[in-house]
Amino acid sequence: MLHKIISRTLPYFPPKLIWQFSKSYIAGETSQDAINASKALNRENIMVTLDILGEFIKTMSQAAKNRYAYLTLIRTIEAAGINANYSLKPTMFGLLIDKKICFEYIRELTAEAASHGNFIRIDMENSPCVDDSIDIFRRLKREFPQNIGLVLQAYLKRTLNDLESMLDLRRDDAALNFRLVKGIYVEPADIAYKDYHEINDHFLKDLEFMLKNKIDAAIATHDTPLIQGALHLIDKYQVPKEHYEFQMLYGVTPKKRRELVKNGHRMRVYVPFGEQWFGYSTRRLKENPAMVKHIIKALFYK
Ligand code: FDA
Repeated sequence: MLHKIISRTLPYFPPKLIWQFSKSYIAGETSQDAINASKALNRENIMVTLDILGEFIKTMSQAAKNRYAYLTLIRTIEAAGINANYSLKPTMFGLLIDKKICFEYIRELTAEAASHGNFIRIDMENSPCVDDSIDIFRRLKREFPQNIGLVLQAYLKRTLNDLESMLDLRRDDAALNFRLVKGIYVEPADIAYKDYHEINDHFLKDLEFMLKNKIDAAIATHDTPLIQGALHLIDKYQVPKEHYEFQMLYGVTPKKRRELVKNGHRMRVYVPFGEQWFGYSTRRLKENPAMVKHIIKALFYK
């Protein structure tokens, strides 16, 4: 109950306090911070996916700024020779304001990544964005078969159907590539599973469908039963190393990721950075109410 109240009031917490919590989950505010974090991860034999923070923007001039920031990031990272690809959120480019321009911006960024032989992952946002994000992915997959991927959320009841409906995009020379996650947004019960076990069951069903159908899988979870379930499926379908990778969030469960790397699995860490860290941080806090306790402590026991 207390957690619920705190979660609702989070947006009104002093940013300084939220930053105390956030700094372990965010590489920093600048691309140099992201480069430093990426280099450290690369040294541990861990790949990264870079994400500039900012979402659900209100004006298309913000979308244009975000387009420029990503273009600059891609050029900087490629010049620095970092083992990274890129994740982006369509609402950051105006998905909910002007779909046509949003598509053009994401297309331009995909073309830029493709020109370096690299890859863009379209993050999945809340349910009103799913159809349009799939549509953007479908169109780009035809034009840049090797360079674009999408995220699918196991908590959504529609996900297995979405997987089936995209099989037509498979090509011999370019597998489909999806990151599978539980899903982080608060969704209504008629469209999303709510129970931990139900979500985990569907995560493994979706993953099994992917591996059976030779879809490249980015298995994005820190949940030990899911990691074990995924390892079992990888073994069952004898999936070659280059067709799957594990993914974890920056600052979360570093011991688990090291263990997987030690056992020879590919690992990629999602590295968010940028000035717009407040929305990302409060969502993480809402998702993991245990962390709210630390905020309460910080508030009352200075
Ligand atoms: P679960 O939430 O059950 O966590 C399992 C364990 O991991 C916890 O018990 C705890 O030990 C640890 N843990 C998890 N989160 C933690 C945290 N914040 N702080 C400390 N410990 C934590 N979602 C989405 O809707 N769209 C997207 O595009 C993405 N993209 C994405 C990329 C990557 C690389 C990852 C890893 C995750 C996402 N997500 C996402 C988020 C995802 O949907 C989900 O909310 C989180 O990964 C947490 O779910 P777990 O599977 O880790 O299980």
